[in-house]
Amino acid sequence: MAETPPAPPPGRVFAGLIFLLLSLPSVISIGINYGTLSDELAPPSQVAAFLKSRTTIDRVKIFDCNPDMLRAFAGSGISVLVTAPNGDISTLSHLPGARDWVASHIAPFYPATNISLIAVGNEIMAFPNSSLVAELVPAMRSLSAALSEAGFSHIRVSTPHALGILAVSWPPSAGRFYSGHDQEVFAPMLKFHRESNSPFLVNPYPYFGYTDDTLDYALFRPNAGVYDPVTKINYTNMFDAQMDAVFSAMNRLGYGDVDIAIGETGWPTAAEPGQAGVGPSFAATYVGNLMKHVSSGKGTPLMPNRRFDTYIFSLFNENLKPGPIAERNWGLFRPDFSPVYDVGILHGRSKSGRTPLPPLDSSTTIHLGSRAPPPPQNSSAARAFGPSPKSGDNVDESSPTPSSGASLNSPFSCLLFLFSLIHVRYYVNLIL
Ligand SMILES: *[C@@H]1O[C@H](CO)[C@@H](O)[C@H](O)[C@H]1NC(C)=O
Ligand SMILES: *[C@@H]1O[C@H](CO)[C@@H](O)[C@H](O)[C@H]1NC(C)=O
Ligand SMILES: *[C@@H]1O[C@H](CO)[C@@H](O)[C@H](O)[C@H]1NC(C)=O
Ligand SMILES: *[C@@H]1O[C@H](CO)[C@@H](O)[C@H](O)[C@H]1NC(C)=O
Repeated sequence: MAETPPAPPPGRVFAGLIFLLLSLPSVISIGINYGTLSDELAPPSQVAAFLKSRTTIDRVKIFDCNPDMLRAFAGSGISVLVTAPNGDISTLSHLPGARDWVASHIAPFYPATNISLIAVGNEIMAFPNSSLVAELVPAMRSLSAALSEAGFSHIRVSTPHALGILAVSWPPSAGRFYSGHDQEVFAPMLKFHRESNSPFLVNPYPYFGYTDDTLDYALFRPNAGVYDPVTKINYTNMFDAQMDAVFSAMNRLGYGDVDIAIGETGWPTAAEPGQAGVGPSFAATYVGNLMKHVSSGKGTPLMPNRRFDTYIFSLFNENLKPGPIAERNWGLFRPDFSPVYDVGILHGRSKSGRTPLPPLDSSTTIHLGSRAPPPPQNSSAARAFGPSPKSGDNVDESSPTPSSGASLNSPFSCLLFLFSLIHVRYYVNLIL
């Protein structure tokens, strides 16, 4: 067990919160993940109208290429990152298949809908399936070629990664990909990103790495910092440490210059009873501080002055997500569009309070909820990501803490992996 770090004076925490509230820019441009594992959501057209009229969100990320969603954002000024589901990767890995895929899934909607990026699969590398892994980079390349041929060269191609891709993530300067995947998959993938000027997409979640002792470090609140003895950098937030671990892994392969974008990050507003650090105020602190941090242009200690395009997870609470309570409570909004918390992205309020929300027409609500639960994961899959935490079921305990030098060397990529097992974000192809 880690020692309890010295608590910052309460006044300092309070002052920090006030500072956060006062210092958020009045208009924040931000992306959001629009997941639909729910049977309570309004139709995409109402969601698009809501985002446009009531929020400063100008980018959405969707987990498929649902035609209703793509149509809904036509002419909205909101750009869309679409996902080619895992099941389409084989088709995409050959140019003829990629051409057909672009003709049927993209051409009917672009450029009326500003499709900015296509994610090829979701977190393929964190749950390696050797046939998908072998096809991933070829699929990215042929999709990119098919888009160029169709005249859609503004649409970029990437694939999102859970931080389970890292064999070593602490200290950040020691970050590296799993050997076997580094030269075979990540080097050619990063080469593709460099050549096509597309971002390496990662999903950092300090939520899956914090303990009671590291809550302030995870939330960007004042804390004693965590020291990287190699670089002599004192990390004061876990997000920077996670991003720098990714950077170090890329840089080790010679691709430190490739852009990084954040496909998902967030903080839930509810969890199992007794879990410290979860609730609307904690979520608002994390997301508010994160948005301020990524838009500040400050970058991270190893990536000074970089900006990261960021998609918050998530737009709505999703009642049909399996797993722990937190899984159903990542949303900034409830399905009726009422905010769970506000981090400064709402606008259009009248002086008397709320402006009317778009009408909810229950008769036309589409049900996108019939999605499969994730594939079961077993221990042989888990072993591929490193040793199990010593403490068995409480995986929180081996995260680095600001107070205990000894625990700083404990690897926590396995924690990220184990947590990502329960953070279920698997989506099946809806448009078969
Ligand atoms: C499309 O979206 C991208 C990325 O958000 C943005 O840079 C670009 O200006 C948008 N294009 C149009 C025509 O709105
Ligand atoms: C790996 O992916 C392929 C292609 O989608 C699929 O047919 C196969 O069943 C998957 N294998 C495993 C072990 O999940
Ligand atoms: C790290 O930074 C924090 C906050 O600025 C400071 O309180 C702490 O003393 C620093 N620790 C080291 C080892 O430099
Ligand atoms: C665990 O997964 C491996 C690889 O996917 C598989 O070969 C094995 O049969 C699975 N074991 C169980 C108990 O499901």
